[in-house]
Amino acid sequence: MEVLFKVIRQTENSSPVVQTYRLEAEPGNTILDCLNQIKWEQDGTLAYRKNCRNTICGSCAMRINGRSALACKENLRSEIARLENIPASGSKASSIPEMTIAPLGNMPVIKDLVVDMSSFWDNLEAVAPYVSTAGRQVPEKEFLQTPQERSLLDQTGNCIMCGACYSECNAREVNSDFVGPHALAKAYRMVADSRDDDTENRLENYNEDTKGVWGCTRCFYCNSVCPMDVEPLEQITKIKQEILQHKQVADSRSIRHRKVLVDLVKEGGWIDERKFGLHVVGNYFKDLTGLLSIVPLGMRMIAKGKFPLSFESSEGTQQVRSLIEAVQQEEGSRE
Ligand code: SF4
Ligand code: SF4
Ligand code: FES
Repeated sequence: MEVLFKVIRQTENSSPVVQTYRLEAEPGNTILDCLNQIKWEQDGTLAYRKNCRNTICGSCAMRINGRSALACKENLRSEIARLENIPASGSKASSIPEMTIAPLGNMPVIKDLVVDMSSFWDNLEAVAPYVSTAGRQVPEKEFLQTPQERSLLDQTGNCIMCGACYSECNAREVNSDFVGPHALAKAYRMVADSRDDDTENRLENYNEDTKGVWGCTRCFYCNSVCPMDVEPLEQITKIKQEILQHKQVADSRSIRHRKVLVDLVKEGGWIDERKFGLHVVGNYFKDLTGLLSIVPLGMRMIAKGKFPLSFESSEGTQQVRSLIEAVQQEEGSRE
């Protein structure tokens, strides 16, 4: 079959340009196979990362037809089928299928599809991604774990550090302090590890302002693009639960975060994002320093078109409210 590859090309000092390549390929060819074909047969100057060709090393993440994914995992057949399900993609009307390939987001481009991942690695380092046994008697042989203890590490242990989640993270786009979904998924792996003896310090660290778990806007993108089903958002939620259970590190803002979330959903059926930060960080307009601290973030969100200017209650508000009230009543009767 014939296919068109529209590759967004760029160097550090130039504006992006779209370069189109036409090639003959099989439907089962991966996007990486096609890029290799372009590089080896048509244009040796095209730059991209690759290594294992088998969804192991995480090198070949890039934006494929609008979302971050591994080039060695996705193939032409699956991409064409995906595009056909997107009404505005126009791929049905076109006689030759088109693949649009762009570099990962939230990181500066070095050349073509190669991005500078320094911030990605620095943010991983910021969560201390190593099992700490400093304050513990180290056994002579090995640390034993039960199968149950080990199974808690399976999902997060699957992360191949590809950067797809980081590329799509809405919080990262507006808040350069936020460490990102990959780092927090790794952070939960440390919290869950029975060999680690630094949980209290970790939870304090991950609880910090909008740098840690509270910086996540729960947009779900990291879960939807992760090629290894690590589900970073689920891991972030588990860290929040741990923080809230450890009363000594659960400052009032963390507790307010959960309370405001429930109150707003009860009020409008879903979250009124305009009020969320004002109530959580600004403590219902009582904390002037907190309010001032989120002004720059608010301005960046408005500039990026990520701040909703109006709010409409959900049609199911009454139903949602009844459900929350029923749960609250049940909880109250148990206390
Ligand atoms: S859910 Fe949170 S961590 Fe995941 S992409 Fe959205 S903002 Fe980022
Ligand atoms: S969590 Fe998933 S998307 Fe994010 S770096 Fe790890 S494997 Fe990639
Ligand atoms: S080349 Fe290793 S994950 Fe794609």
